[in-house]
Amino acid sequence: MAKIGIFVGTVYGNALAVAEEAQQVLEQQGHEVEVFEDATLEQWQVYLQQVVLVVTSTTGQGDLPDNIQPLYTELSDQLGYQPDLRYGLIALGDSSYDTFCGGGHTFDELLQEQGAKRFGELLLIDAAEVVEPEVFAQDWVEDWGTLL
Ligand SMILES: Cc1cc2nc3c(=O)[nH]c(=O)nc-3n(C[C@H](O)[C@H](O)[C@H](O)COP(=O)(O)O)c2cc1C
Repeated sequence: MAKIGIFVGTVYGNALAVAEEAQQVLEQQGHEVEVFEDATLEQWQVYLQQVVLVVTSTTGQGDLPDNIQPLYTELSDQLGYQPDLRYGLIALGDSSYDTFCGGGHTFDELLQEQGAKRFGELLLIDAAEVVEPEVFAQDWVEDWGTLL
């Protein structure tokens, strides 16, 4: 079983609801899970040999929410390379924006550049179609949890 940190980027709480649902699903599978909002680089570094799940929405025009942007900047400026990290990514957005799920894609690109290993495809959740994102995410999270 894995030790998993779920790192959340949210403005209105939808991504947090997805993260908390994911925590329940993964804990039922026997994983050890903690959810972080306003995460620091130190909290992220605990997982460098473990597993993270990034759950982030997009704000502005393809931007990361303010509560996860500082972590992104620290990872980008200070970490460089994290080849032992395994991760998954859930991106929330709205397809009426040109920059659909831009925040999630930006985070994914950084982790790819830094050598982290992604498990599973990105899950994109479109607010234009999905009313209950935490329910929509359940099956993906169950499958992802079994890949670890
Ligand atoms: C001001 C504002 C800007 C947004 N910009 C984008 C965007 O650029 N791309 C996108 O895919 N979604 C965008 N969205 C949609 C949100 O990402 C989507 O509603 C998401 O479910 C919000 O999740 P949250 O409550 O965790 O922040 C925007 C929403 C708002 C209110």
